[in-house]
Amino acid sequence: MAPFLCMWIAAFFGVSQGCPEPCTCVEKKFGRQLAECAYRDLQEVPAGLPSNVTTLTLSANRLHALQQRSFLEVTQVSSLWLAHNEISAIEAGLLHLKNIDLSHNQLADFPWRDLHNLSALQLLKMNNNQLARLPADAFRTLRDLRSLRINNNEFATIAQGTFDSLTSLSHLQIYNNPLNCTCALLWLKGWAENTLISIPERDSISCAAPDSFRGLPLARVPALACPWPGSRACSQPSLDSTELHEGFTLLLHCSATGSPPPELSWRVQTASQGTEVNGPSVPMKDRAAGGSKQSAGSFVIFKNGTLLIPNFSKREEGTYTCLAANEVGAHEVSASEAL
Ligand SMILES: *[C@@H]1O[C@H](CO)[C@@H](O)[C@H](O)[C@H]1NC(C)=O
Ligand SMILES: *[C@@H]1O[C@H](CO)[C@@H](O)[C@H](O)[C@H]1NC(C)=O
Ligand SMILES: *[C@@H]1O[C@H](CO)[C@@H](O)[C@H](O)[C@H]1NC(C)=O
Ligand SMILES: *[C@@H]1O[C@H](CO)[C@@H](O)[C@H](O)[C@H]1NC(C)=O
Ligand SMILES: *[C@@H]1O[C@H](CO)[C@@H](O)[C@H](O)[C@H]1NC(C)=O
Repeated sequence: MAPFLCMWIAAFFGVSQGCPEPCTCVEKKFGRQLAECAYRDLQEVPAGLPSNVTTLTLSANRLHALQQRSFLEVTQVSSLWLAHNEISAIEAGLLHLKNIDLSHNQLADFPWRDLHNLSALQLLKMNNNQLARLPADAFRTLRDLRSLRINNNEFATIAQGTFDSLTSLSHLQIYNNPLNCTCALLWLKGWAENTLISIPERDSISCAAPDSFRGLPLARVPALACPWPGSRACSQPSLDSTELHEGFTLLLHCSATGSPPPELSWRVQTASQGTEVNGPSVPMKDRAAGGSKQSAGSFVIFKNGTLLIPNFSKREEGTYTCLAANEVGAHEVSASEAL
Protein backbone atom coordinates (compact mmCIF):
# COMPACT_ATOMS: atom_id res chain seq x y z
CA MET A 1 0.00 0.00 0.00
CA ALA A 2 1.33 3.38 -0.93
CA PRO A 3 2.25 5.53 2.04
CA PHE A 4 1.39 8.55 -0.08
CA LEU A 5 -2.20 7.51 -0.30
CA CYS A 6 -2.46 7.42 3.46
CA MET A 7 -0.90 10.81 3.83
CA TRP A 8 -3.36 12.17 1.39
CA ILE A 9 -6.26 10.65 3.27
CA ALA A 10 -4.91 12.03 6.51
CA ALA A 11 -4.66 15.50 5.02
CA PHE A 12 -8.05 15.29 3.41
CA PHE A 13 -9.91 14.29 6.51
CA GLY A 14 -7.85 16.50 8.74
CA VAL A 15 -6.79 13.64 10.97
CA SER A 16 -5.28 14.92 14.19
CA GLN A 17 -1.67 16.01 13.94
CA GLY A 18 -1.32 16.05 17.70
CA CYS A 19 1.05 13.93 19.71
CA PRO A 20 -0.18 10.56 20.97
CA GLU A 21 -0.42 10.31 24.73
CA PRO A 22 2.64 8.15 25.49
CA CYS A 23 4.96 10.39 23.48
CA THR A 24 6.40 13.86 23.69
CA CYS A 25 6.64 15.74 20.43
CA VAL A 26 9.13 18.52 20.08
CA GLU A 27 9.81 20.75 17.16
CA LYS A 28 13.48 21.38 16.51
CA LYS A 29 15.43 23.65 14.24
CA PHE A 30 15.79 22.98 10.52
CA GLY A 31 12.32 21.47 10.25
CA ARG A 32 13.15 18.55 12.49
CA GLN A 33 10.24 17.13 14.43
CA LEU A 34 10.99 14.75 17.28
CA ALA A 35 8.62 12.20 18.76
CA GLU A 36 10.05 10.76 21.93
CA CYS A 37 8.30 7.61 23.13
CA ALA A 38 11.06 5.76 25.00
CA TYR A 39 10.59 3.86 28.27
CA ARG A 40 6.82 3.60 27.96
CA ASP A 41 6.23 -0.14 28.07
CA LEU A 42 4.81 0.14 24.58
CA GLN A 43 3.98 -3.07 22.75
CA GLU A 44 3.05 -1.31 19.54
CA VAL A 45 4.08 1.78 17.69
CA PRO A 46 1.58 4.37 18.94
CA ALA A 47 -1.01 5.57 16.47
CA GLY A 48 -1.61 9.22 15.72
CA LEU A 49 1.98 10.42 15.44
CA PRO A 50 2.32 13.70 13.54
CA SER A 51 2.96 12.86 9.91
CA ASN A 52 5.94 15.20 9.76
CA VAL A 53 7.97 13.43 12.46
CA THR A 54 11.58 13.04 11.38
CA THR A 55 13.06 11.44 14.49
CA LEU A 56 11.13 8.72 16.23
CA THR A 57 12.44 7.30 19.47
CA LEU A 58 10.87 4.07 20.61
CA SER A 59 13.82 2.69 22.55
CA ALA A 60 13.36 0.60 25.66
CA ASN A 61 9.83 -0.54 25.11
CA ARG A 62 8.36 -3.96 24.57
CA LEU A 63 7.79 -3.90 20.85
CA HIS A 64 7.76 -7.43 19.42
CA ALA A 65 7.41 -6.89 15.72
CA LEU A 66 7.60 -4.05 13.32
CA GLN A 67 4.85 -4.12 10.83
CA GLN A 68 4.71 -2.11 7.71
CA ARG A 69 1.47 -0.51 8.81
CA SER A 70 3.07 0.73 12.01
CA PHE A 71 4.93 3.35 10.02
CA LEU A 72 2.45 4.31 7.34
CA GLU A 73 1.57 7.52 9.19
CA VAL A 74 5.13 8.72 9.51
CA THR A 75 6.70 8.66 6.11
CA GLN A 76 9.24 11.42 6.82
CA VAL A 77 11.15 9.60 9.52
CA SER A 78 14.87 9.67 8.90
CA SER A 79 16.01 8.49 12.32
CA LEU A 80 14.38 5.54 13.99
CA TRP A 81 15.61 4.48 17.41
CA LEU A 82 14.39 1.04 18.43
CA ALA A 83 17.10 -0.25 20.73
CA HIS A 84 16.22 -2.36 23.77
CA ASN A 85 12.94 -3.79 22.64
CA GLU A 86 11.87 -7.38 22.11
CA ILE A 87 11.71 -7.14 18.37
CA SER A 88 12.05 -10.50 16.69
CA ALA A 89 10.38 -9.83 13.37
CA ILE A 90 10.51 -7.08 10.85
CA GLU A 91 8.11 -6.84 8.00
CA ALA A 92 9.21 -5.50 4.68
CA GLY A 93 9.05 -1.83 3.86
CA LEU A 94 10.88 0.31 6.35
CA LEU A 95 11.21 3.95 5.54
CA HIS A 96 13.68 6.19 3.81
CA LEU A 97 15.94 6.28 6.76
CA LYS A 98 19.28 7.80 7.52
CA ASN A 99 19.68 6.27 10.95
CA ILE A 100 18.23 3.12 12.37
CA ASP A 101 19.01 1.54 15.69
CA LEU A 102 17.74 -1.99 16.16
CA SER A 103 20.36 -2.95 18.72
CA HIS A 104 19.54 -5.00 21.79
CA ASN A 105 16.54 -6.76 20.35
CA GLN A 106 15.87 -10.41 19.61
CA LEU A 107 16.32 -10.42 15.89
CA ALA A 108 17.27 -13.83 14.61
CA ASP A 109 16.63 -12.91 11.03
CA PHE A 110 16.30 -9.72 9.10
CA PRO A 111 14.76 -8.91 5.73
CA TRP A 112 18.13 -8.05 4.26
CA ARG A 113 16.69 -7.31 0.85
CA ASP A 114 14.80 -4.37 2.30
CA LEU A 115 18.09 -2.71 3.06
CA HIS A 116 18.67 -2.34 -0.66
CA ASN A 117 16.08 0.40 -0.79
CA LEU A 118 17.50 2.32 2.13
CA SER A 119 20.25 3.87 0.09
CA ALA A 120 20.35 7.03 2.23
CA LEU A 121 21.28 5.09 5.34
CA GLN A 122 24.22 6.47 7.29
CA LEU A 123 24.00 4.62 10.58
CA LEU A 124 22.91 1.01 10.98
CA LYS A 125 22.98 -0.50 14.42
CA MET A 126 21.98 -4.13 14.69
CA ASN A 127 24.33 -5.12 17.46
CA ASN A 128 23.25 -7.39 20.31
CA ASN A 129 20.75 -9.51 18.46
CA GLN A 130 20.82 -13.16 17.40
CA LEU A 131 21.54 -12.67 13.74
CA ALA A 132 23.39 -15.56 12.17
CA ARG A 133 23.03 -15.12 8.43
CA LEU A 134 24.55 -12.24 6.52
CA PRO A 135 24.05 -12.35 2.74
CA ALA A 136 27.11 -11.24 0.82
CA ASP A 137 25.11 -8.53 -0.93
CA ALA A 138 23.27 -7.26 2.15
CA PHE A 139 24.93 -3.84 2.05
CA ARG A 140 25.26 -3.56 -1.71
CA THR A 141 23.43 -0.24 -2.10
CA LEU A 142 24.46 1.53 1.10
CA ARG A 143 27.00 3.92 -0.34
CA ASP A 144 26.40 6.57 2.33
CA LEU A 145 26.66 4.25 5.29
CA ARG A 146 29.24 5.53 7.73
CA SER A 147 28.75 3.35 10.75
CA LEU A 148 27.80 -0.31 10.82
CA ARG A 149 27.41 -2.21 14.06
CA ILE A 150 26.76 -5.91 13.86
CA ASN A 151 28.76 -6.93 16.91
CA ASN A 152 27.35 -9.32 19.51
CA ASN A 153 25.37 -11.46 17.13
CA GLU A 154 25.68 -15.08 15.99
CA PHE A 155 27.55 -14.56 12.74
CA ALA A 156 29.89 -17.49 12.12
CA THR A 157 31.20 -16.21 8.85
CA ILE A 158 31.22 -13.15 6.65
CA ALA A 159 31.58 -13.57 2.93
CA GLN A 160 34.45 -11.93 1.17
CA GLY A 161 33.36 -8.65 -0.40
CA THR A 162 30.49 -8.05 2.02
CA PHE A 163 31.80 -4.58 2.91
CA ASP A 164 33.19 -3.67 -0.51
CA SER A 165 30.35 -1.43 -1.62
CA LEU A 166 30.36 0.58 1.60
CA THR A 167 32.50 3.33 0.18
CA SER A 168 31.65 5.82 2.95
CA LEU A 169 32.17 3.44 5.85
CA SER A 170 34.40 4.76 8.60
CA HIS A 171 33.35 2.67 11.59
CA LEU A 172 32.67 -1.05 11.75
CA GLN A 173 31.84 -3.09 14.82
CA ILE A 174 31.99 -6.83 14.30
CA TYR A 175 33.40 -8.10 17.58
CA ASN A 176 31.78 -10.80 19.72
CA ASN A 177 30.52 -13.01 16.96
CA PRO A 178 31.23 -16.76 17.10
CA LEU A 179 33.46 -16.78 14.05
CA ASN A 180 34.25 -20.01 12.29
CA CYS A 181 37.84 -19.32 11.37
CA THR A 182 38.06 -21.47 8.26
CA CYS A 183 39.89 -20.58 5.11
CA ALA A 184 36.75 -18.83 3.89
CA LEU A 185 37.10 -16.19 6.60
CA LEU A 186 40.79 -15.52 6.30
CA TRP A 187 40.18 -12.65 3.88
CA LEU A 188 38.71 -10.72 6.80
CA LYS A 189 41.95 -10.90 8.68
CA GLY A 190 43.93 -9.39 5.83
CA TRP A 191 41.24 -6.87 5.02
CA ALA A 192 40.96 -5.65 8.60
CA GLU A 193 44.72 -5.24 8.78
CA ASN A 194 44.83 -3.06 5.70
CA THR A 195 41.67 -0.99 5.80
CA LEU A 196 41.45 2.59 7.05
CA ILE A 197 38.02 1.90 8.54
CA SER A 198 38.06 2.00 12.31
CA ILE A 199 37.39 -1.49 13.64
CA PRO A 200 37.30 -1.45 17.44
CA GLU A 201 37.85 -4.28 19.93
CA ARG A 202 39.96 -6.36 17.61
CA ASP A 203 40.88 -8.86 20.28
CA SER A 204 37.20 -9.72 20.55
CA ILE A 205 36.95 -10.47 16.84
CA SER A 206 37.76 -14.05 17.61
CA CYS A 207 37.16 -17.63 16.65
CA ALA A 208 34.59 -19.95 18.19
CA ALA A 209 35.55 -22.72 15.77
CA PRO A 210 37.41 -24.80 14.74
CA ASP A 211 38.44 -26.17 18.12
CA SER A 212 42.10 -25.54 17.50
CA PHE A 213 41.47 -21.81 17.18
CA ARG A 214 38.74 -21.41 19.78
CA GLY A 215 39.14 -18.10 21.56
CA LEU A 216 41.95 -16.99 19.31
CA PRO A 217 41.58 -13.50 17.82
CA LEU A 218 41.15 -13.76 14.06
CA ALA A 219 44.15 -11.49 13.67
CA ARG A 220 46.35 -14.20 15.17
CA VAL A 221 45.07 -17.13 13.11
CA PRO A 222 47.98 -18.39 11.03
CA ALA A 223 47.44 -18.09 7.31
CA LEU A 224 49.62 -20.98 6.27
CA ALA A 225 46.84 -23.53 6.60
CA CYS A 226 45.08 -22.15 3.55
CA PRO A 227 47.14 -22.29 0.38
CA TRP A 228 45.65 -20.82 -2.75
CA PRO A 229 44.43 -23.59 -5.01
CA GLY A 230 46.61 -24.66 -7.86
CA SER A 231 45.90 -26.94 -10.78
CA ARG A 232 47.76 -28.84 -13.45
CA ALA A 233 46.35 -30.40 -16.53
CA CYS A 234 47.53 -32.97 -19.03
CA SER A 235 45.97 -35.12 -21.71
CA GLN A 236 45.98 -38.79 -22.48
CA PRO A 237 47.09 -39.73 -25.02
CA SER A 238 49.66 -37.01 -25.05
CA LEU A 239 48.83 -34.53 -27.73
CA ASP A 240 52.31 -33.88 -29.02
CA SER A 241 53.15 -37.50 -29.66
CA THR A 242 49.92 -38.85 -31.03
CA GLU A 243 48.38 -38.72 -34.44
CA LEU A 244 44.86 -37.57 -33.76
CA HIS A 245 42.41 -39.69 -35.59
CA GLU A 246 38.66 -39.27 -35.61
CA GLY A 247 36.64 -41.07 -33.02
CA PHE A 248 39.24 -41.87 -30.41
CA THR A 249 38.67 -41.38 -26.72
CA LEU A 250 40.50 -38.48 -25.19
CA LEU A 251 41.06 -38.10 -21.48
CA LEU A 252 42.01 -34.74 -20.02
CA HIS A 253 43.32 -34.98 -16.50
CA CYS A 254 43.32 -32.14 -14.06
CA SER A 255 44.86 -32.36 -10.65
CA ALA A 256 44.50 -29.67 -8.08
CA THR A 257 46.12 -28.75 -4.83
CA GLY A 258 44.70 -26.59 -2.11
CA SER A 259 43.07 -26.66 1.24
CA PRO A 260 40.20 -27.28 1.45
CA PRO A 261 40.40 -29.49 -1.68
CA PRO A 262 39.16 -27.46 -4.63
CA GLU A 263 36.17 -28.31 -6.76
CA LEU A 264 37.12 -28.97 -10.34
CA SER A 265 35.25 -27.95 -13.43
CA TRP A 266 36.05 -27.58 -17.10
CA ARG A 267 35.43 -24.80 -19.54
CA VAL A 268 35.31 -25.90 -23.15
CA GLN A 269 35.60 -23.46 -26.01
CA THR A 270 35.32 -24.94 -29.47
CA ALA A 271 34.81 -23.16 -32.77
CA SER A 272 31.08 -23.42 -32.44
CA GLN A 273 30.32 -23.50 -28.76
CA GLY A 274 31.31 -22.50 -25.29
CA THR A 275 30.40 -24.81 -22.46
CA GLU A 276 31.05 -25.30 -18.81
CA VAL A 277 31.14 -28.79 -17.44
CA ASN A 278 30.76 -28.76 -13.70
CA GLY A 279 30.93 -31.49 -11.16
CA PRO A 280 31.06 -35.21 -11.71
CA SER A 281 29.16 -36.56 -14.68
CA VAL A 282 26.84 -33.62 -15.10
CA PRO A 283 25.51 -33.72 -18.63
CA MET A 284 26.95 -30.96 -20.70
CA LYS A 285 24.96 -27.76 -20.73
CA ASP A 286 24.95 -26.19 -24.13
CA ARG A 287 25.72 -22.53 -24.21
CA ALA A 288 26.10 -22.45 -27.96
CA ALA A 289 25.81 -18.96 -29.37
CA GLY A 290 24.60 -17.91 -32.76
CA GLY A 291 22.13 -20.62 -33.56
CA SER A 292 24.66 -23.38 -33.98
CA LYS A 293 22.91 -26.66 -34.52
CA GLN A 294 25.78 -28.69 -33.21
CA SER A 295 24.62 -31.37 -30.86
CA ALA A 296 26.11 -31.27 -27.42
CA GLY A 297 28.90 -33.75 -27.12
CA SER A 298 28.83 -36.40 -24.49
CA PHE A 299 31.57 -35.14 -22.22
CA VAL A 300 31.90 -36.92 -18.94
CA ILE A 301 33.66 -35.50 -15.94
CA PHE A 302 34.79 -37.85 -13.20
CA LYS A 303 35.08 -37.10 -9.52
CA ASN A 304 38.84 -37.00 -9.82
CA GLY A 305 38.56 -34.14 -12.32
CA THR A 306 39.24 -36.13 -15.46
CA LEU A 307 37.26 -35.02 -18.48
CA LEU A 308 36.46 -37.72 -20.98
CA ILE A 309 35.62 -36.97 -24.59
CA PRO A 310 34.39 -40.30 -25.96
CA ASN A 311 34.36 -39.58 -29.65
CA PHE A 312 36.91 -36.95 -30.45
CA SER A 313 36.57 -35.29 -33.82
CA LYS A 314 37.30 -31.99 -35.46
CA ARG A 315 34.13 -30.67 -33.88
CA GLU A 316 35.64 -31.02 -30.42
CA GLU A 317 38.77 -29.10 -31.29
CA GLY A 318 39.23 -26.08 -29.07
CA THR A 319 40.44 -24.84 -25.75
CA TYR A 320 39.89 -26.93 -22.66
CA THR A 321 40.43 -25.12 -19.39
CA CYS A 322 40.39 -26.72 -15.98
CA LEU A 323 39.18 -24.59 -13.08
CA ALA A 324 40.06 -25.37 -9.50
CA ALA A 325 38.16 -23.30 -6.96
CA ASN A 326 37.76 -23.43 -3.23
CA GLU A 327 36.74 -20.89 -0.62
CA VAL A 328 40.20 -19.33 -0.68
CA GLY A 329 40.28 -18.61 -4.37
CA ALA A 330 40.43 -20.06 -7.84
CA HIS A 331 43.03 -21.12 -10.33
CA GLU A 332 42.65 -22.21 -13.89
CA VAL A 333 44.91 -23.95 -16.32
CA SER A 334 44.52 -24.68 -19.96
CA ALA A 335 44.86 -28.34 -20.82
CA SER A 336 45.28 -27.98 -24.50
CA GLU A 337 45.33 -24.83 -26.53
CA ALA A 338 46.68 -27.12 -29.19
CA LEU A 339 43.61 -29.28 -29.54
C1 LIG B 1 4.60 19.38 12.12
O1 LIG B 1 3.26 19.15 12.50
C2 LIG B 1 2.90 19.86 13.68
C3 LIG B 1 1.52 19.38 14.09
O2 LIG B 1 0.63 19.43 13.01
C4 LIG B 1 2.94 21.34 13.39
O3 LIG B 1 2.58 22.08 14.57
C5 LIG B 1 4.35 21.72 12.96
O4 LIG B 1 4.41 23.07 12.56
C6 LIG B 1 4.82 20.84 11.81
N1 LIG B 1 6.25 21.07 11.65
C7 LIG B 1 6.83 21.14 10.47
C8 LIG B 1 8.32 21.34 10.48
O5 LIG B 1 6.21 21.06 9.42
C1 LIG C 1 12.57 -1.32 -3.43
O1 LIG C 1 13.03 -0.86 -4.67
C2 LIG C 1 12.62 -1.66 -5.76
C3 LIG C 1 13.21 -1.09 -7.04
O2 LIG C 1 14.48 -0.60 -6.82
C4 LIG C 1 11.10 -1.68 -5.83
O3 LIG C 1 10.70 -2.54 -6.87
C5 LIG C 1 10.55 -2.18 -4.51
O4 LIG C 1 9.14 -2.12 -4.53
C6 LIG C 1 11.06 -1.37 -3.37
N1 LIG C 1 10.60 -1.97 -2.12
C7 LIG C 1 10.05 -1.26 -1.17
C8 LIG C 1 9.64 -2.01 0.03
O5 LIG C 1 9.87 -0.06 -1.25
C1 LIG D 1 32.97 -24.27 10.20
O1 LIG D 1 33.11 -24.34 8.79
C2 LIG D 1 33.45 -25.63 8.33
C3 LIG D 1 33.78 -25.53 6.86
O2 LIG D 1 32.80 -24.84 6.17
C4 LIG D 1 32.32 -26.58 8.64
O3 LIG D 1 32.63 -27.86 8.21
C5 LIG D 1 32.06 -26.58 10.16
O4 LIG D 1 30.96 -27.37 10.46
C6 LIG D 1 31.85 -25.17 10.66
N1 LIG D 1 31.81 -25.21 12.12
C7 LIG D 1 30.86 -24.60 12.79
C8 LIG D 1 30.95 -24.69 14.28
O5 LIG D 1 29.96 -23.99 12.25
C1 LIG E 1 39.85 -40.58 -13.01
O1 LIG E 1 38.85 -41.54 -13.06
C2 LIG E 1 38.61 -42.10 -14.36
C3 LIG E 1 37.46 -43.08 -14.26
O2 LIG E 1 37.55 -43.85 -13.13
C4 LIG E 1 39.89 -42.77 -14.91
O3 LIG E 1 39.67 -43.26 -16.22
C5 LIG E 1 41.01 -41.73 -14.93
O4 LIG E 1 42.23 -42.32 -15.32
C6 LIG E 1 41.18 -41.11 -13.54
N1 LIG E 1 42.14 -40.03 -13.63
C7 LIG E 1 43.29 -40.03 -12.94
C8 LIG E 1 44.17 -38.85 -13.12
O5 LIG E 1 43.60 -40.96 -12.22
C1 LIG F 1 31.64 -40.11 -33.64
O1 LIG F 1 31.60 -38.90 -34.37
C2 LIG F 1 31.48 -39.07 -35.76
C3 LIG F 1 31.65 -37.73 -36.46
O2 LIG F 1 31.39 -36.65 -35.63
C4 LIG F 1 30.17 -39.74 -36.07
O3 LIG F 1 30.03 -39.94 -37.47
C5 LIG F 1 30.10 -41.06 -35.33
O4 LIG F 1 28.83 -41.64 -35.52
C6 LIG F 1 30.35 -40.88 -33.85
N1 LIG F 1 30.44 -42.18 -33.21
C7 LIG F 1 29.84 -42.46 -32.08
C8 LIG F 1 30.05 -43.84 -31.54
O5 LIG F 1 29.16 -41.63 -31.46
